[in-house]
Amino acid sequence: MKLTTFEGAVTEFGGGLLVLGRHSEAEASTAEKAIDDALGGALSAAIERLRFKGKSRQRVTLDVAGGIAASRVLLLGLGDTDCDAMALRDFAALAVDEAIASRFETVGIWLPEAETHAQQIGAGVVLGAYRFDQLKSVDPENPKFEISAATLLAPAAAQAGLDIGAALGEAVNLARELVNEPANVCTPERLAQVARDLAEDPCFTVKVLGRDEIRAEGMGGIVAVSQGAAVPPRFIHLTYIPEGGTDENAICLVGKGLTFDSGGLSIKPAKGMEEMYIDMGGSAAVLGAMKAVSSLRPNVAVHMIVGSCENAVGADSYRPSDILTMYSGKTVEVLNTDAEGRLVLADCLHYAQNLKPRGIVDLATLTGACMIALGPYTTGAFSDDETWIGEVLAAGETAGEKLWRLPLDPKLADGLKSKRADITNLGPRWGGAITAAQFLQHFKGETPWVHLDIAGPAIADKNDGHIRVGATGVGVLTLWSLIDAAQA
Ligand code: BES
Ligand code: ZN
Ligand code: ZN
Repeated sequence: MKLTTFEGAVTEFGGGLLVLGRHSEAEASTAEKAIDDALGGALSAAIERLRFKGKSRQRVTLDVAGGIAASRVLLLGLGDTDCDAMALRDFAALAVDEAIASRFETVGIWLPEAETHAQQIGAGVVLGAYRFDQLKSVDPENPKFEISAATLLAPAAAQAGLDIGAALGEAVNLARELVNEPANVCTPERLAQVARDLAEDPCFTVKVLGRDEIRAEGMGGIVAVSQGAAVPPRFIHLTYIPEGGTDENAICLVGKGLTFDSGGLSIKPAKGMEEMYIDMGGSAAVLGAMKAVSSLRPNVAVHMIVGSCENAVGADSYRPSDILTMYSGKTVEVLNTDAEGRLVLADCLHYAQNLKPRGIVDLATLTGACMIALGPYTTGAFSDDETWIGEVLAAGETAGEKLWRLPLDPKLADGLKSKRADITNLGPRWGGAITAAQFLQHFKGETPWVHLDIAGPAIADKNDGHIRVGATGVGVLTLWSLIDAAQA
C-alpha cells in the first residue's frame, strides 16, 4: 500500500473516501467547515441529527455527489485531546476499515495536528489493512478487496513519520502472520528461515542450531521438550550490529517459540488445545522487532534468541519425574510437561546472559495464570531490576501497549523447591504467573532482565480498532520503542 501526503484543500482530495477526525467536545474544525460549506450544510445537518460529539469511534458517514472531490465523507471521533498512540492507530485502522467495507481503493485522512501524529497514523493504516486470508480459496463471487493507497492530509514533511509508522506496521504484521499460521505451516524451521532472510542484510548475522547441535551444546531444556516431536527443534540467534558499531551494550530479545503445545504427556484437555498453535507468540514478537530493526536501522546492537520446538506426545516424550540438566548446569525435576515454555526459555536465557548484553527482555505465552490475573488485553511484566523494568514499562507507554508489573514475591519462590533436583518446573497453584517468572530468574545470571508474559494479549477474539481478529503481534511496538529510546 502506498502512503502519501496531500497538501491541497480538503475539498480537493480526490480519492474515494475522506475521513475527518474530531476530538471530544471540540468545535467543528476548519476542514469540516470547508466540507460543510461545499456541501451546502449537509455535513453539519448530519452531525446535528446524529448528535456527533467526537467521542472515540463515534461516526457520521455521508455519501456525496459533487461539491467536493471525494465520494464519501466519514467524520470519526478521536476521543480525548491527549489521545495516545493506541487511540491514533485505532482511528487510522477504522478509516481503512471503512474504505475496505465501502470498496474505495483510496482513503484520505485528516485530523488535527496530523504531522505530529503521522507515525501512529502510518502504523494504524498498515495494521488496519491486515487480514489473515492466505490459506483461504478465492471466492469468485466475492474477490478479495485491498486498498491501494492512504493519504494523510498534511504537509509533505509528515512523510518521514508515515514511513516509520508503516515500517512498524509491517513488522507487527509479520509477527501476526507467523502466529496466525498453524503448526503444520509455521514450524521451527519456518521461524529459522525468517531469521535467515533478515540476515541477508550485511548488518545481521545468524546462527541456527538443529537437534544434534542443540544436544551437543547441552541445552537440556530444549532437548527434553522437543524430543517427543517428529518436527526438529531450532535454536536461533540473530544479531544486528549497526554499521561501524560493536555489540557492546546490546539489547537482547528472547522469544518462546513453541510451534504447538499439546502439553506433552501431561496432556491438555481437548477443549482449548486447538489454540496452542499461538504458543510461539514470543518468538514472533522478537522476529517482528528485528524486522523493524532491519527497516529502521537503530544505532544500538540487538541480539535476538529464539528457542523453537513442538511439545508433542510420542514414544520419546519427556516424562513427569524426569530430571533435566539444563544448559546452565542446574538440574530441574519435571513435575508437569505442560510447563515446557520455561524449560526452553531457561536455556535461551543462559545463552543470552553469556553474551553480556546491557539487558534482556524475554517474551512468552507462558501461563494461563497471567491471563487469569490480568485479563486478555494486558501483558504481565516481571523483573528484579528497577532501572531496566522502568525502561521497558516506559517503552510500553510510548508504544501504546498495556503492561502491568507483577511482584516476584520471595515467599512464592520457595514453591519451586525440589527434593530430587535443584528446582522443579512447577510451582503451587496460586501465583502461577509469578512462579513461572521466578523459574526463569534462576537462569538469567547477573544480567538485568525483564520477563513479559503475553499469554493474554497474543490473540484477540474480534476486530477492535487496529487489532484484527486472531494474532495481535503484541510486543513488537514495545520492543521497538525500547530500542529506539536506547539509541545514543
Ligand atoms: N502455553 C501455555 C500457556 C498458555 C495458556 C498460553 C493459555 C496461552 C493461552 C503454557 O505452556 C502452559 O501450558 N502453562 C501451564 C503451566 C502449568 C502447567 C504450571 C498453564 O498455564 O496452565
Ligand atoms: Zn504448556
Ligand atoms: Zn506453552
